[in-house]
Amino acid sequence: MSTVLVTGCAGFIGSHLCERLLEEGYHVIGVDNFDDYYDRRFKERNLKPLLNRAGFRFVEADIRDEEAMEEILERRAVIIHLAARPGVRPSIKIPKLYLDVNVRGTLILAERAVEKDAEQFIFASSSSVYGLSETPFREDLPADKPLSPYASTKRCCEILLHTFSHDFSLPVTCLRLFTVYGPRVRPDMAIYKFAGAIWMGKTITLYDGGGLKRDYTYVSDIVEGIILAMKKRFSYEIFNLGYGKPIEIRYLVKLLEETLGKRAKIVSAPKPREDMPETHADISKAENMLGYRPRIAIEEGIKRFSEWFIENAAEGK
Ligand SMILES: NC(=O)c1ccc[n+]([C@@H]2O[C@H](COP(=O)([O-])OP(=O)(O)OC[C@H]3O[C@@H](n4cnc5c(N)ncnc54)[C@H](O)[C@@H]3O)[C@@H](O)[C@H]2O)c1
Repeated sequence: MSTVLVTGCAGFIGSHLCERLLEEGYHVIGVDNFDDYYDRRFKERNLKPLLNRAGFRFVEADIRDEEAMEEILERRAVIIHLAARPGVRPSIKIPKLYLDVNVRGTLILAERAVEKDAEQFIFASSSSVYGLSETPFREDLPADKPLSPYASTKRCCEILLHTFSHDFSLPVTCLRLFTVYGPRVRPDMAIYKFAGAIWMGKTITLYDGGGLKRDYTYVSDIVEGIILAMKKRFSYEIFNLGYGKPIEIRYLVKLLEETLGKRAKIVSAPKPREDMPETHADISKAENMLGYRPRIAIEEGIKRFSEWFIENAAEGK
């Protein structure tokens, strides 16, 4: 069984993915630099249960550190590259940092992957690459008009990796993830902020009255999709990983109210320009080529999220 290198292992999706890989018996090397996008303590908490598990090795390192990556990466490993500077809105203010971490970081890893003859390179891309494309989003849309620097860096990485696949025969799979949620979700994400505000009786701001639509996808479905992609090997493919049924944000708030047992105080504001009005994954390619079948509907997912939130995150626990 190949060794799997997971970058961003202390993050939300990375920590769930590492758990699942270990359950399946893989040897996992996790890399994370505890980037300051959000509080390091969240990431330490995500990582802690992994640290004593057989088959897991953690290395605190920056993906942009070429020597460290050279040392860490074993020959013929599978690379699952999740480390990134995330977040659409914050990327407007510091695009250079997003370009450096996301694009230069991916380039450095891709070079190491070629040197070490990597089994394959799986890249966490984003639904944001579709920008204002018509919905539902299909992988064969041009995706050449992203709305934020974050989205641009993700598309740029997909294109860069295409070159690596073509010129150096590096097998590449890009997975466009659609708004992922669940226990340990990033604290900057709307669902976490809304849950916190509802719990504390504070006001939440809904853009365009909560009419924006997002294709919320539960984290275990995303992890399943990543594992399915890892078990195949393509010279170069892009797949949407979403649930396939977008919901209005006002419905998300209603489900949070029900599961947290408290009412939301809502104000409305205009949608920021960099935000997409709707995301909606056409998942037929992933269904047909990977056997991907998302299982957790939003009602069940929010119930699970809220249970976790009350237990672990409410009132700044
Ligand atoms: N959460 C979502 O809804 C979503 C949607 C689409 C795409 N994605 C992508 O999935 C990936 C994981 O997202 P997440 O929500 O788990 O985010 P996250 O911030 O929780 O995880 C990313 C991890 O990468 C680490 N990291 C950042 N820069 C690094 C660097 N230079 N070197 C080493 N480690 C570094 C961070 O410390 C963090 O632990 C990201 O690439 C993100 O862009 C996420």
